[in-house]
Amino acid sequence: MANKSKQKNYMKEYKVTKPNFSQIEEKLLKELRNELVDLAISSGNNFNLNKKALIQNIKNFIDLKLPLNSINLNSINPNINLSIYNNEKDNLKSENNINEIIYEDSDYEDNINNDNSYENENLKKNTYINDLTNKFYQEIIGYGSLDPLIKDDDLEEIMIIGVRKPVFVYHRDLGMMKTNLIFKKEEDILTLIDTIARQINRRIDQESPILDGRLLDGSRVNATISPISADGPSLTIRKFKKDPLTIIDLIKLKTMNTRLGAFFWLCVDGLGVKPANIIISGGTSSGKTTTLNSLTNFINPRERLISIEDTLELQINHQHLLRMETRPKNIEQKGELKMDDLVKNALRQRPDRIIVGEVRGTEAITLFTALNTGHSGFGTLHANSSRETITRLINHPMNVPKIMISAIDLIIMENRIYKSDGVSIRRITEVSEVVGVEENNIQLNKIFNWNPKTDEIENIGITSKTLRNISETRGTSMKEIEEEITNREILLKYLLKNNLRSNEKIGEIFKKYYQDKDEILDEIKGNY
Ligand SMILES: Nc1ncnc2c1ncn2[C@@H]1O[C@H](COP(=O)(O)OP(=O)(O)OP(=O)(O)O)[C@@H](O)[C@H]1O
Ligand SMILES: [Mg+2]
Repeated sequence: MANKSKQKNYMKEYKVTKPNFSQIEEKLLKELRNELVDLAISSGNNFNLNKKALIQNIKNFIDLKLPLNSINLNSINPNINLSIYNNEKDNLKSENNINEIIYEDSDYEDNINNDNSYENENLKKNTYINDLTNKFYQEIIGYGSLDPLIKDDDLEEIMIIGVRKPVFVYHRDLGMMKTNLIFKKEEDILTLIDTIARQINRRIDQESPILDGRLLDGSRVNATISPISADGPSLTIRKFKKDPLTIIDLIKLKTMNTRLGAFFWLCVDGLGVKPANIIISGGTSSGKTTTLNSLTNFINPRERLISIEDTLELQINHQHLLRMETRPKNIEQKGELKMDDLVKNALRQRPDRIIVGEVRGTEAITLFTALNTGHSGFGTLHANSSRETITRLINHPMNVPKIMISAIDLIIMENRIYKSDGVSIRRITEVSEVVGVEENNIQLNKIFNWNPKTDEIENIGITSKTLRNISETRGTSMKEIEEEITNREILLKYLLKNNLRSNEKIGEIFKKYYQDKDEILDEIKGNY
């Protein structure tokens, strides 16, 4: 759908085909929406229209309300409409026998050539109603004109920035693109935001003009309305990647290399005695959550994990995992469960490792207390350098006491770097260690640094404190630790070369490695 042929420095265009409604149909759709809202309000918590019932409702509504004499049935070719239906049918195949409804008027074959017969008129009418029912269903349950964008897995982000302005998308390969989709009326964006809010059981209105949540497909959504958004309502959707990037993908994308990957692997499992505590830091959309997710590939399968997030984003491939999500206040302003509540609760659940999606508030102290008392943890944090990561942690609102900061072993900095053609790349630009607190100053040591000239992340040559800790705790020499990293790098190179990138394949090979490393190393010899 994306037009790749546009000139370099011009914003590339993304073409969307929009459903075309006549004025009467638009009016009808609006009425239908209002009717459904009324129905939802009057049924309160009991509102639960299943797909089959909803389709039937829409069909009845059209049947009842549509002045069919206002439509030129002769312009409707049943063959064409029915072929649209076939596609719809495929799309909806798994959805509660919707086909039954769509095809209930299917004795068209006999009548099709009998142009002016009553049956044929009837057939055309039914075909038309079925077609419209399906389109309305998509509008109501789906995201209307945004639907094609939502379905395109190549898009990273969808952005509505107001009325009478193009909707923008961020394409994974082509960068920022302008679409031909423009919302002409504020009301249309509001309806879309309302539909989303209703689907996820949230509300957005003048009193709480921000909506932050997760669509049913896992995509993250943020919407704002007036008074906080000046140019009309805005909507940003961070698309959920159905097949998440794994550690091998990140190496392939050059976000890290095999050496750094092997180093992370050893730090994350800590040779079973000292798993590292890691903060992944970076700017907005720099890839922090993705990197955190991919590092969980390295967690020993024996561990019990608890993940805590504001909106479920992580897709951790680990059997023994408890996923927790915070809960916002309900309509009566009650029932809120914050990150801190969940971290405190997690500590009562004997986790081996706590994973906090994004550290940003008072939960930081609870988390650091846990890290200082022998738990291990991962988290992401929004900051532009390792130093700023520390500054943010020790200041309001996180207020972590300086003495507790030394519980962090590694700070991984990730950056989104824009190239001249508008496409961005993500790189781990720095790995630092907290080496201690001296005279009230927190000491950081950079151990890996990204070289923009070679586009490689290089080992600076300083001995890693994390590795030294593992060596001392386990009684393994640093030489043996280095050998272990080299072996693990061989394994990562093997996975990379053979394109074994899925969580399953990675898990399989890692398991073999844990069981008998000599055997698997022998097996893959020369094949990396
Ligand atoms: N290394 C990478 N290479 C290419 N694309 C990536 C990479 N990491 C992440 N992405 C893509 O970039 C988008 C943002 O990634 P992610 O959510 O991990 O960033 P983030 O830093 O956690 O963002 P936020 O600041 O919103 O928390 C996603 O669509 C993801 O698939
Ligand atoms: Mg994130």
